[in-house]
Amino acid sequence: MRVAFVGKGGSGKTTMSALFARYVASQGGPVVAMDADINQHLALVLGLDRQPEPLGAHLTEIKDHLRGDNPRIPSAEAMVKTTPPGRGSRLLGFDDLAGGEYALTTSEGIRLMATGPFSEDDLGVACYHSKVGAVELLLNHLVDGQGEYVVVDMTAGADSFASGLFTRFDLTFLVAEPTRQGVGVYHQYREHASRYDVALAVVGNKVHGPSDVDFLRDQVGDDLLTWMEHSAAVRAMEQGRPFTLDDLEPANADALALLRKRLDEQEKDWERFGRQAEEFHLRNARAWANARTGLDLEAQIDPEFVYGRR
Ligand SMILES: Nc1ncnc2c1ncn2[C@@H]1O[C@H](COP(=O)(O)OP(=O)(O)OP(=O)(O)O)[C@@H](O)[C@H]1O
Ligand SMILES: [Mg+2]
Repeated sequence: MRVAFVGKGGSGKTTMSALFARYVASQGGPVVAMDADINQHLALVLGLDRQPEPLGAHLTEIKDHLRGDNPRIPSAEAMVKTTPPGRGSRLLGFDDLAGGEYALTTSEGIRLMATGPFSEDDLGVACYHSKVGAVELLLNHLVDGQGEYVVVDMTAGADSFASGLFTRFDLTFLVAEPTRQGVGVYHQYREHASRYDVALAVVGNKVHGPSDVDFLRDQVGDDLLTWMEHSAAVRAMEQGRPFTLDDLEPANADALALLRKRLDEQEKDWERFGRQAEEFHLRNARAWANARTGLDLEAQIDPEFVYGRR
């Protein structure tokens, strides 16, 4: 099951992604964490002292691997971030993803992958979505199931709508601070999410008391799943002090348990997943990718391909 953490800049997406991944791992769940933000911060909060090999630097290898023998995709150059799998493509099981060569393992057994930072060449020229494309491609080719956890820390704000990436999840947790700006992104996301049938739950963060909770409830209604309080343990961790999950305040640990419960209750919808993979690919092909590659990328859609099976 794939879950995305989205929200306004600084709301706590990375903190929450990391704590959730650590919580699930502590309960014995296999976890892949993906840093899909170009501001690489997840490794640090997961307790690693270095960054994994950036996926964005290995796009060609990743594409060559995923396209396999798919006759509709004759080269890596013909593969764009939305190119969907078809017959002959190499689909990934959760273990394949977790075992990928570009991941690092944390002391808690979480496998971390990262899009990678901006490089000099990116500035002003190529937009970073081509780098985030690695995550989208991997998720498009992933056949995962219940009890397997893929946790993705997303870019801030509504940037995620620029591609189909926001539809590649079983569930999206929107992290919101109890401020007008904090819930502003929620209102944008909510509209998009309902248009695409994307399951969304709000997780309040840095809550200081009942009036904060009232504010969130007033603003987001039943979408409010739970909230984390402002955490002295998280602050201490950010100050470089050693941190384990046991340091977390009980109310915050309970919130993590609720997130997991909500995700475990979510059902897979491979039909939606496949339909939207194709929808975004068509859109992408027509908007720029046909022109960029000089190919008819719409023909990459394989009408006989069945999503969710290997
Ligand atoms: N519950 C919390 N209690 C205390 N501090 C918190 C809490 N959640 C997040 N923070 C702090 O808030 C700051 C921003 O958090 P974080 O980096 O996770 O946000 P983000 O949404 O990932 O930001 P960005 O948009 O820059 O990626 C960090 O210093 C983090 O330690
Ligand atoms: Mg972040």
